[in-house]
Amino acid sequence: MTEHGSLVADKPAVITGNLTHRFQSPDGGVMDILQDVSFTVREREFFTVVGPSGCGKSTLLNVASGLLRPSSGEVRLVKNDRELEQQEIGYITQDSNLFPWLTAIQNVMAPLEIRGVPKRERVERATEWLSLVGLDGFEDHYPRQLSGGMQKRCSIARTLVYEPEVLLMDEPFGALDAITKSTLQKTVLELWEKRQTSVVFITHDLTEAIALSDRVAVMTGRPGRIRAIVDIDIERPRDVYNITDLPSFKSLRRELWQLLETELEAGLETGPDTGPDTGPKSELKSEEQ
Ligand SMILES: Nc1ncnc2c1ncn2[C@@H]1O[C@H](COP(=O)(O)OP(=O)(O)OP(=O)(O)O)[C@@H](O)[C@H]1O
Ligand SMILES: [Mg+2]
Repeated sequence: MTEHGSLVADKPAVITGNLTHRFQSPDGGVMDILQDVSFTVREREFFTVVGPSGCGKSTLLNVASGLLRPSSGEVRLVKNDRELEQQEIGYITQDSNLFPWLTAIQNVMAPLEIRGVPKRERVERATEWLSLVGLDGFEDHYPRQLSGGMQKRCSIARTLVYEPEVLLMDEPFGALDAITKSTLQKTVLELWEKRQTSVVFITHDLTEAIALSDRVAVMTGRPGRIRAIVDIDIERPRDVYNITDLPSFKSLRRELWQLLETELEAGLETGPDTGPDTGPKSELKSEEQ
């Protein structure tokens, strides 16, 4: 253990090197989304990325998960220098992405089936996970019969159930109410502390970023580059409910906010899709208080 109670190893788990991505824009031009993004997430590290809306965070995870090929540069997900297989990577996408034709428990069992886990164990593990995310009694509901927050919880269970080596999470708690959000943050943190999976986490919520992470990367506005990486030197295990009371929390939030604010101001001045109600600042404004 380090002085902060972290078990982060000195081995790389996610390596991005000069990652650059461009998308075709509707007018036939080209839009630079990610530019020279380089960072290394260590084994068992909780690494969070924050940045203005539209700067390329989801694109970064799409590339990291192998769903999207970058225009140039590389992303490697490794364990002891071995490239991870697709089945060892967990990706909780920004939308909940459940199979609508399967019930909650069938959704959670699906990745286990692909991995050849016997039926009895599938049922046991899926039931346990649905319970961990507070969905007891909803096993036989279809996604359309669940609330938005419940669908999100179900998709979290569906990914965590197979205990991936690297977990990519794109704003997994974004749409949840404050109480459910803190409960799930606590659950995820406890599980992560037990298993110590390497995590790349995306959020708009600076309190959440500080509460969960070992390091937080702040991205610039589009094209997204890494503006700074901030160490979160707060002891573990952490108390997500009372983290805001810590003096170190306040100074970290100020530091992160100052880094972000400049990017948000720049986006508001130049961005084509950053109107007063939909722009990046509207989503992060509450962090200022
Ligand atoms: N498949 C695509 N084709 C063309 N452009 C795309 C595509 N996917 C994303 N983009 C563009 O790439 C940019 C970055 O999108 P991305 O979803 O990565 O942003 P983000 O940082 O995750 O934003 P948010 O915080 O709002 O989720 C946006 O300008 C978006 O319009
Ligand atoms: Mg996104």
